[in-house]
Amino acid sequence: MTAAHTAITSNSDNIAAHTHTLFVCQTCASVWQDGKRVGESGGQKLLHQIQQLAQDWDLREEFPIQAVECMSACNRSCVVAFAAQGKLTYLFGDLDFDNSAAAVLECAEQYYTKTDGVLPWSERPEPLKRGILAKIPPL
Ligand code: FES
Repeated sequence: MTAAHTAITSNSDNIAAHTHTLFVCQTCASVWQDGKRVGESGGQKLLHQIQQLAQDWDLREEFPIQAVECMSACNRSCVVAFAAQGKLTYLFGDLDFDNSAAAVLECAEQYYTKTDGVLPWSERPEPLKRGILAKIPPL
C-alpha cells in the first residue's frame, strides 16, 4: 500500500466516522457595544452547556459539535442545526440558552437513530417542538 493510498483511506475513514454534525451558533443572543460583543453570548452559553453534557454522551465520537458564527436566523436565537449525509437537515431556533442543552442532545440522538433523519413533532423533546426554522431535503 502506498503512502497516498493510506492517506486517502484514512481520510475516508474519518469522513465515515463523522457523517453527522451538530452546529451551534455561538453569536446568537449577543450583547453588542461599539461593534464588540460584551460578555458571553447566549449562543456561547448554550454551546458550552452542550459540550459539557456531551463529554458523557454515547455519540460524542459519531456526532461532533461544531460552533458556527451565524446561520442567518439571528432574530430567532438561539439556533442549532442537525446535518448528516443522506438525511434531512434541520434548523431549530428560539432555544432558551439556559435550559435547552439536554433537549438538543436528546433530539440529536433521535436524529442519529433514524435512517432518514425524520424528527416527527410528537417525538421531539419539548424545547424543539417549537421554533423549527427549516427542514431541508437530503442531497
Ligand atoms: S447570530 Fe445566531 S443565527 Fe445569526
